[in-house]
Amino acid sequence: MWLDWKPRRDLPAYAKYVVGEAGSRRATAALRELRTGLAAMGGEAPGAAPPETAPCLRLVEEPGEEEGFRLRRHGEGLILSGTGRGLVFGAFYLLRRLALGEDFPCCNSSPAYPIRMLDHWDNADGSIERGYSGNSFFFREGRPVCTERTRDYARLLASCGLNGCCINNVNVRGNALRLLTGEYDGELREIALCLEEYGVGLWLSVSFSAPMELGGLPTADPLDPEVKAWWAEAAGHIFRSVPNLAGFLIKADSEGRPGPHTYGRTHADGANMLADAVRPWGGRILWRCFVYDCTQDWRDTETDRARAQCDTFAPLDGQFRDNVCLQIKNGPVDFQIREPVSPLLGRLENTNSLLEFQLAQEYTGQQKHVCYLIPMFREVLDFRLRHRPEKDSAAESIQAVCAVSNTGDDVNWTGHDLAAANLFGFGLLAWDPRSDPAEIAREWSVLTFGRDTAVTETVCGILLGSRETYEKYTVPLGIGWMCVPGTHYGPSPEGYEYDRWGTYHRATCREIGVERGPGGTGYALQYHSPLAEMYGSADSCPEELLLFFHRLPYAYRMKDGRTLLQRIYDDHFEGCAEAEAMARAWNTLEGRVPDEVFRRVRERFREQVRSAREWRDVINSWLYRLTLIPDERGRRLYL
Ligand code: GCU
Repeated sequence: MWLDWKPRRDLPAYAKYVVGEAGSRRATAALRELRTGLAAMGGEAPGAAPPETAPCLRLVEEPGEEEGFRLRRHGEGLILSGTGRGLVFGAFYLLRRLALGEDFPCCNSSPAYPIRMLDHWDNADGSIERGYSGNSFFFREGRPVCTERTRDYARLLASCGLNGCCINNVNVRGNALRLLTGEYDGELREIALCLEEYGVGLWLSVSFSAPMELGGLPTADPLDPEVKAWWAEAAGHIFRSVPNLAGFLIKADSEGRPGPHTYGRTHADGANMLADAVRPWGGRILWRCFVYDCTQDWRDTETDRARAQCDTFAPLDGQFRDNVCLQIKNGPVDFQIREPVSPLLGRLENTNSLLEFQLAQEYTGQQKHVCYLIPMFREVLDFRLRHRPEKDSAAESIQAVCAVSNTGDDVNWTGHDLAAANLFGFGLLAWDPRSDPAEIAREWSVLTFGRDTAVTETVCGILLGSRETYEKYTVPLGIGWMCVPGTHYGPSPEGYEYDRWGTYHRATCREIGVERGPGGTGYALQYHSPLAEMYGSADSCPEELLLFFHRLPYAYRMKDGRTLLQRIYDDHFEGCAEAEAMARAWNTLEGRVPDEVFRRVRERFREQVRSAREWRDVINSWLYRLTLIPDERGRRLYL
């Protein structure tokens, strides 16, 4: 990954000596990283005892910030922080700047959010739900495991500024249910200590009905005194046994998971009960808002899944404890290639919220296709929720960020080598949501492949256009869900039409899309003015989301005069040609990047191009068969 520091001939003189007190395990880790990093860059290990006049690099822990750091130059180079954790972040930051060819970046830096984490959907049996890069490295054959990779993983997270990870799937099944019983305390403690060395906190997903599953109680009702007592004891046990445990993540009343609704209680009742149980230990509860009816009858045209989260959670604003954070996916539905920003983010004024992204490319090419997601994440963070002068953007309205991880035990960690840019980029954005996606791509490419301008330009060219390219050859204009049910890979335009998941486009020979304006399901009205009006009318709705918000005839005129149908045809031809061009661009890098990486990525591009052609032909032919309107430019469509 990006921690494979490349030799640098012009390393500044101060890098010959690294001095610091190993006051804590974290400070020791910071020193070790600097020493190994500088040894790799400079060709020899830096000394620990500089002659009196020699410049050196010094790490100093002095009262101040929790996680931030200061870099100062007074003859010697100084990395200062209030904690060992800050020193770790500072050390990695300096190493990254040096690897980019810089000298000494004097700066003050501190993270925008206190929680910046990755969620693993790892199951206890070692499989990963929606995992595209091998098996779990946190679980093997039903047990948690701590290995060399755990440590490397902690280093990876800290090196891009992340400070937490939840190691098990939100769908808590099998042996994962038993993580609270004490049977695995030894393994969990080992993992926690390993992560802690790099300032990374451990989180666990728990099942809302654990008091029944583990405690043998007849109910999991959050207001039942026995249930409360069970949780208080379970939390006490695990927090005492596992140092560095940060809290619990819960998926409740969602896709068949148990939750407070079973007992006629609200999500606030459920979350607060757990919050009280973990409070004595300084723990937190991350409560997911991914709640909707997953047993919808497709004949029911009134219910709109996109509305569900706001309808459920907005009325509860202000009712949650201060150690609860509502975890909200970036869009109202489910990590599609294009969705509007979740309106719920704009509706919580007195509740902590955490924005959830997905690095695992479930709907965005499953790490077989290149899809650099960082520009999309940045768009979401920049999105202005209310158009008021202050504290308006999504980035300013949330208290924490997380992303579903795209890592596994594959040799390159992320399946597709270029998918590592997403992990790295998420870390940098979580630290500073104003980071520039193009600059992140450049930094990642230089750290990963070295300072070869031709490589950097080609890699950045591929990454930066990849999201739009993927969008063009797959699903049009925000409509989403034309993928194969279950696997979510490859085209199946009506795969989700007559199913129970609430994800319909209801295309006929005349029209396509669900009307979500004021005359339709009213979803657009969940936004504040002027967004509600903007999205509510097809004329003012941003074109890339046109079919998310509106049901329109194929002859509808786009702003550039093309018909809606022609725009969809064109996008598919264009997107596919772009995928082919990306594959050719990668081929020019033979001999410039390590052979193994070159070959792996070339293989992935073969699959991406095959799949892009399939998407193009299936979607376009399907629309042609429905409408019998040919492509204006006479390109081949299949009847
Ligand atoms: C999607 C995904 C599931 C996952 C769910 C979630 O629906 O397909 O595998 O469990 O999201 O976020 O909880």
